[in-house]
Amino acid sequence: MRIVRTIEELKRWRRSIEDNVGFVPTMGALHEGHLSLVRCSKKENPYTVVSIFVNPTQFDDPEDLRNYPRTLERDIKLLEQEGIDLLFAPSVEEMYPEGFDDSDAHYDFGYLERVLEGAHRPGHFKGVAQIVAKLLRAVEPDVLYLGQKDYQQVLIIKALIRKLNMPVKVVMCPTVREADGLAMSSRNVRLSRQQRESALALYRALMRAKEIYEKGGSVLEAKHEAMKILDNAPLIKKIDYFEIADAETLKPVSDWNEADRVIALVAVRMEGVRLIDNMFIK
Ligand code: PAF
Repeated sequence: MRIVRTIEELKRWRRSIEDNVGFVPTMGALHEGHLSLVRCSKKENPYTVVSIFVNPTQFDDPEDLRNYPRTLERDIKLLEQEGIDLLFAPSVEEMYPEGFDDSDAHYDFGYLERVLEGAHRPGHFKGVAQIVAKLLRAVEPDVLYLGQKDYQQVLIIKALIRKLNMPVKVVMCPTVREADGLAMSSRNVRLSRQQRESALALYRALMRAKEIYEKGGSVLEAKHEAMKILDNAPLIKKIDYFEIADAETLKPVSDWNEADRVIALVAVRMEGVRLIDNMFIK
């Protein structure tokens, strides 16, 4: 596995490759969720590139950026075991040579960037689009692998790729869960044992909403029952949202028949950690 720190070196390698390249962008602190994306890319492409870069411009909370787990040595070992071809691990100065202002983050995703995560993390998706555009220009992948756990991010990145007219196919892989249902996340390491127990409410709330749909209940009932589960989780300090929406537009639905595919999405805050999850209902 080659480890590359500069865009120039990455581009030199890329020019020497003629076959398909699959790309998994990450912020490190790798877990089984990331590794499932890597395995998917390895299966489908002769070459796989992974990036590790904790992108400062997508953090709306400086404390979250400071506390974001950084485990590069361990990540390198895991990626070596997976047999990827190249790890791109640039410095902040490499990606933001003029300082990390947002002067080149001019993408406008309209409604999609203003709701749910966008409403609760101002500027987050501008930062995501800014770094993903830089990474895509540097890696020039044929296929991009993203996890369903960040569902709204997947929609934003698909829209970004359309805006940039880039010939990149996006593959979304299912959320990887712990045995008890908790969605894998780099932030889970920051949960205390009791918080982790409370965090299971996200999965239970999503499952309950799905169950109500399957039993013929209404959207309102599904939301109400899910909120009850979240409200009763002792260490959840704030529910940012529990929404049931059209999976394509993220516009809330009040009837299951309003959209072909319907998704439930949730975000909560616990002391020092914010968690998100989602599930296709229909
Ligand atoms: O999902 C992530 O880890 C990040 O948002 C991404 C896509 C690597 C951009 O920094």
